[in-house]
Formats: sequence, structure tokens, C-alpha cells
Amino acid sequence: MSDTPPPLRVLTQHGASDLGDEPAGPCQVVIFGASGDLAHRKLLPALFQLHRDGLLPPCFRILGFARTPKTPADYAAEIATSLCDTARVQPVDAAERDAFAAMIDYHTGQYDDPDSFRALAAHLAEHDCEQELGGNRLFYLSTPPAVYPQILRNLHAAGLLAQDQGRWARVVIEKPYGHDLDSARELNAVVESCMDESQAFRIDHYLGKETVQNILVFRFANAIFEPLWNRTHIDHVQITAAETGGIGGRAGFFDRAGTIRDFVQNHLLEMLCLVAMEQPVDFGAAPIRDEKVKVLRSLRRIPAAATANSLVVGQFDGYRAIDGVDPDSRTATFAALKLHVDNWRWQGVPFYLRAGKQLAARVTEINIHFRQIPFCLFGQEEVCQRLNPNVLTLRIQPDEGIRLRFGCKTPGDTTAVSDVLMDFSYARAFGQSPPEAYERLILDALRGEAARFSRSDEVEAAWRVVDPLLAASEGDAAFPLHAYAHGGDGPLAAAELVRAAGHAWDPIG
Ligand code: BG6
Repeated sequence: MSDTPPPLRVLTQHGASDLGDEPAGPCQVVIFGASGDLAHRKLLPALFQLHRDGLLPPCFRILGFARTPKTPADYAAEIATSLCDTARVQPVDAAERDAFAAMIDYHTGQYDDPDSFRALAAHLAEHDCEQELGGNRLFYLSTPPAVYPQILRNLHAAGLLAQDQGRWARVVIEKPYGHDLDSARELNAVVESCMDESQAFRIDHYLGKETVQNILVFRFANAIFEPLWNRTHIDHVQITAAETGGIGGRAGFFDRAGTIRDFVQNHLLEMLCLVAMEQPVDFGAAPIRDEKVKVLRSLRRIPAAATANSLVVGQFDGYRAIDGVDPDSRTATFAALKLHVDNWRWQGVPFYLRAGKQLAARVTEINIHFRQIPFCLFGQEEVCQRLNPNVLTLRIQPDEGIRLRFGCKTPGDTTAVSDVLMDFSYARAFGQSPPEAYERLILDALRGEAARFSRSDEVEAAWRVVDPLLAASEGDAAFPLHAYAHGGDGPLAAAELVRAAGHAWDPIG
């Protein structure tokens, strides 16, 4: 893998953001947890789309590894059938689907059984020879995280992580990466004992979202915003990731994780880093990761006694009655927090983050609130009082785009000012919505481009921010857990959190 910056793909006026036209090299992809929800809903549909777009090479094989005994033909048929619902672009052409299914293989094995991995090694080697797959392997860990260490150790012991004679081996590790700082460190230690850091691709699918990547392009490809991107001009920043859904069939996972682990430690902090980081030396993996780690290290530690002033957690009504959820559960399904980046650029600028389930709308957006004008020229007090500061909205999903709110003279005799929007929409500008995050990220991993994945120190730095919040909210039974109704903005206490500094959340939706 090289640290040469990947080319910045140019968005032309004809095409939507594309994934380039250079296919990945020959390889076998092994998916651990092949029978699971993530593999079915996201990974295989993403590989299918890459196949349709001609981005997988002719020498390519996908091997599902799971505990459930199944024949390769049954697994391939199961995937082919599910693509009729899960493929991003519908309808699915039968010939394309069959050609994709022909690449799919299956291996039954136990994650804690070294023999299963020796058999896997033999299986892969056999196909390497028969199909000129180059000995290259991408292992994808989409199992419950508790078995990651076993899989890594067994891969290592079976010689499957060796990179010699020009072949490569990479491991994509799904989030959650650990349960807290200590477990993330332990996992990092296992990774370090089994392979080189450059072989580890810790995935947070938000980094594969085109609109999340666009945060950096927007900031560093436009001369007009960067001079304003600091405490002199920005009053505060709001980052919201709201979902209308509940926890689906994932009670077992979610009730142990909660929103702080599921969303804040990764998706929200990743977005905060991209908004707050300094300009990287270039767009290579190391410079981008270095700058993100600096942001995480600059986040002000919140003393345990002061956590209640910086964090609000909530649980939606009816959560405890869900099948699989502990009837006394104190798991947060909503979290709102106030953070400060203690550096020169951001001193005094609050970053408000919130994420939650069962809210009014499914929307992820970043709102940059600029400062109020220093002096109102328009005479009448009622006009001046109604002047709103500019807000720049980076809309991550849905309706991906960017909006700038500014004041405009309302037509007529009086000097009334109205808020109006400059509005850019990906769909309107490029004729289609951006590709699925997993397509982008799997292709990156196949190409060895690591910039959109997290490095070991970054994951630990994020846990260092989140650990004290978890200790306070989970460790102290007296820490308030606010109930909230479905379909709203979350608990009222979240509004209080920002009101204390004279701010108000932007409406969800
Ligand atoms: C996952 C979380 O990482 O992201 C889920 O585990 C959440 O709880 C999902 O629903 C949201 O992803 P997206 O891409 O739909 O915003």
C-alpha cells in the first residue's frame, strides 16, 4: 500500500460523482459473518453494484464464511434472490445477477477453530491457482465484534495475513471498534500482533458517504469559505444525525451499545473532525488522519462532575418493551452533547452534536452558524431584532446538498428583511444521488486506499473523548435518562443544553 495521495476525482458537469473507471486488481474477498444482516443488506449489494459498474476484475471471488452449514450453491442462490430487494439500482438484470452469483462461494467454519482457518487457507490457495487470483485477499469482519480477536489470531496462525511474493492481505474491521477505550486498545494490540497497521482498514461507513467526503472538498476547493472558517466568524456548529426508525431487529446489539457508542464515538466525531481539522498536507491517508487525531486530542475533557452540563441522554417511549431489550434498560437511544475544540481556530465556539432514534425525520446535517452582524443599519428595532445570522447547511442525507441562508430585502417600500436560501442539490446538479458508502469503501480497500478508514490512534483518541461520558451516564444510576416521545426532537432537556449558551437547535427535518 502506498501513502501517495489518491487522485482527487473530479466531478464533471456530465457525470455524478463516480468511483473512477479503474477496476480493482484480482483478489478473493472473504466475508466473515456471511449469513448476517450487514452482509446481506450492504456488503453483497455493494459488491454487486461494483460488478455492474465494471469495477471488479474478471479474476475475482467472494467467499462467505459463517458457522451455518450451507453449500456454496445455496449461498449464491440466497444472495442472488436477495439482490432483487437489496440492489441499489433496480430492476436487476438476470444475466448480470447470474454472472455475479457465479463469483460467490461459501465456507462453513467456526471462528474459534484453527482447523477451520487452515481449511480456509487451503480453499483459497486452490482457487488462487485455478483462477489466477494473484494470492490477494481482503478479509471483511462483519461478525459480532466479540469474535474479532479470534478471527484475527486464526487468520494470522493460518498464514493468511502474510504479504509476500507481491501479494497483499487486508482486513476490513467493522464498527463498533471496541466497547470502550480499554477494549479498543486490546483490539489494537491484537491487530498489531497479527499484521502491519497498513493492512488494517477500520471502517466507519459515514466516511464513505460522498457528502461527508465533500466536507473537505468544500472547505479546501473554495477560496471564499476558508477565511471565514474560524472563531472570528463562526458562532457555533450543530451536527445532527436523526433517524425515524427504532432499533430494528438489533436489540441484542443496541441494548449493549446505546447511541453514544453506536453514533457519537464514530459517525458524529468523524464529521466533527472533518469540519474542524486544519488543512492536511495533501489528501493522502497519513496527512488526513494526522489532522483528525489533532482535533480529537484538542477536544476539551469534560470533568465527571460537569458531565450533566454537557451531555443529555434520552430513551424513546416504549423502548424497554421491545423484544430482546432489558426491561430495566438504561440504554440511551438519544444523545446530545456540547463539545469545545481547544485550539486557536475554534476557541469559544461550541460544537453541539446530537443523534437519536425515533425522531421527527431521517436527516443528517451539519449547520455552521455564523456570527450575528456587528451593527444593525436598518433603523427600526423590530427589523433588527428579526435579522437572523447566516447559516451554512451541509446536508449529508437525504436530499444531499448545501444551503446558505442569508438575509434579503423583502420587495416593497419598507426595509423588511427576509431569510432566503441559496440551494445546491446533488440530485439536480449531477442528475443522480451519490453512490452507496459501502461501494466507495470496499473499492478503496481493494485498491489499498486508506484515507477513508480510521487509524489505531484515531479510534483510541475518539474513545478517550467518549469514555468519561459513558462513565458518567452509565456508571451513575442517578444520571438523568430522559424519556421522549416518538416523532419529535428528542428530550426537552436537549433544548436546555444549548439554551444555556443562548442557542437553539435547528429543527429536525
Ligand atoms: C450504523 C448504526 O452504524 O449506522 C445504526 O449502527 C444506524 O444504528 C446506521 O441506523 C445509520 O446509517 P445510515 O447510513 O443509514 O445513516
